[in-house]
Amino acid sequence: MANALRVGLAGLGTVGGSVVRLLAENAALIAARAGRPIELARVASRTPKAELDLGAASFSTDLASLPHGPVDVVVELIGGVEDAGALVEASLGAGRAVVTANKALLAERGEALFALAHAQGLPVGYEASVAGGIPIVEALRGGLAANRLDALAGIVNGTSNHILTAMENDGQDFAAALAEAQRLGYAEADPTFDVEGVDAAQKLAVLAALAFESGIDFAGVHVEGIAAIDIEDIRYARELGFVVKHLAMARRHADGVAARVHLALVPERVLLAKVSGVTNAILANGDAVGSTVHIGPGAGGMATASAVVADLVALARGHLPVPRPATRRLPALGVRGLVCPHYLKIPAIDQPGVFAEVAEVLSRHAISIEAVIQRPQAIRPDAEPWVPIVILTNDVAETVVEAAVAELGGLGGVTGTITRIRVADL
Ligand SMILES: NC(=O)c1ccc[n+]([C@@H]2O[C@H](COP(=O)([O-])OP(=O)(O)OC[C@H]3O[C@@H](n4cnc5c(N)ncnc54)[C@H](OP(=O)(O)O)[C@@H]3O)[C@@H](O)[C@H]2O)c1
Repeated sequence: MANALRVGLAGLGTVGGSVVRLLAENAALIAARAGRPIELARVASRTPKAELDLGAASFSTDLASLPHGPVDVVVELIGGVEDAGALVEASLGAGRAVVTANKALLAERGEALFALAHAQGLPVGYEASVAGGIPIVEALRGGLAANRLDALAGIVNGTSNHILTAMENDGQDFAAALAEAQRLGYAEADPTFDVEGVDAAQKLAVLAALAFESGIDFAGVHVEGIAAIDIEDIRYARELGFVVKHLAMARRHADGVAARVHLALVPERVLLAKVSGVTNAILANGDAVGSTVHIGPGAGGMATASAVVADLVALARGHLPVPRPATRRLPALGVRGLVCPHYLKIPAIDQPGVFAEVAEVLSRHAISIEAVIQRPQAIRPDAEPWVPIVILTNDVAETVVEAAVAELGGLGGVTGTITRIRVADL
């Protein structure tokens, strides 16, 4: 067999520890598929982990020395942007290929790091950075290579999907569903990045850059979290034939990329609506193939290690590509120019004429009503004495619905904040 591929591993946390185990447990089959052994040569991390058997690999707490040792590839699994970015740059500078699971780093600095890798002629693997164990990077780059890809949509944050699923299935409110996700180990002690959509936006930026072969301005991704969701909205959406999901969506237009992360009503017949718990799913539309959906575990040590080691196998076989530098940077459109149906929940006092006023405002903004639910005391038995007017509109432009909602909020019969959720245009 040919010489071993020598791995320098940075980080011994959830993913790093699982990579150590996977390389050992499946060593024979990995070597057979790679055409040569994949050998853990060096490990650097902040703290040694006595419970991990590093075999013949040396351990150091000195991250900076890792790329300068006898390794062919540096596997960056420390996370974060600053130290990880410095390590990846130093590794490429020292002529080492890189494998990383770090979506935060790639979303913020991917363009520059890929340009550096290209200049150095070095491969970079990042399968694990999006949707954990789902081989979506390879699918977009390889299996769908013949297609012009114009749209992506996905559930790429398991924590927020777990929370929404628990609210839908068990009737929990947001706080209880979040607490349960934390108890089960699905949500971080600080779940901000997950529930505010930042994690999903980072993954979307990585995927969109790959699919649309463009630099993506991460700051231009429109991001809304899930914390404002009310259990009532989930139930009303069901009555209207939808499931509420936290979607990451990107679409290429002639004048730029509309990339956005927000709650969305997904028609219940659509596959994405059926993706529950911590599972991830990504829908990619290609002009030749049509719609493809890729589903699987989006996180977890072993699932993510599966993707990391897949990159190592591809590298060992000489199949891991050198990134092509972005030749263009499409302007970020966010939700500007977006046209889609909307779900509106308008808290109103229980008096005759209020609905007529609401309908009049909508009509003046040329917004047609597709469906209405108006039921005294509605679903929540302990609710204030108001009658939510729930409306499903037809297609309406973002600016128009914003103006209409502002006007509706000023009506005398409207008693509180209006909830607005877009309907997914999949
Ligand atoms: N966990 C998942 O399910 C998952 C899924 C997909 C992608 N990812 C990505 O994979 C990467 C690793 O995630 P993880 O969950 O494995 O994180 P983690 O459990 O926090 O592990 C990080 C490891 O890196 C070490 N480390 C952190 N900063 C360091 C530094 N400056 N110098 C030396 N060592 C440092 C930590 O040391 P200590 O042991 O001392 O803390 C720890 O061993 C992240 O980019 C993450 O986004 C994770």
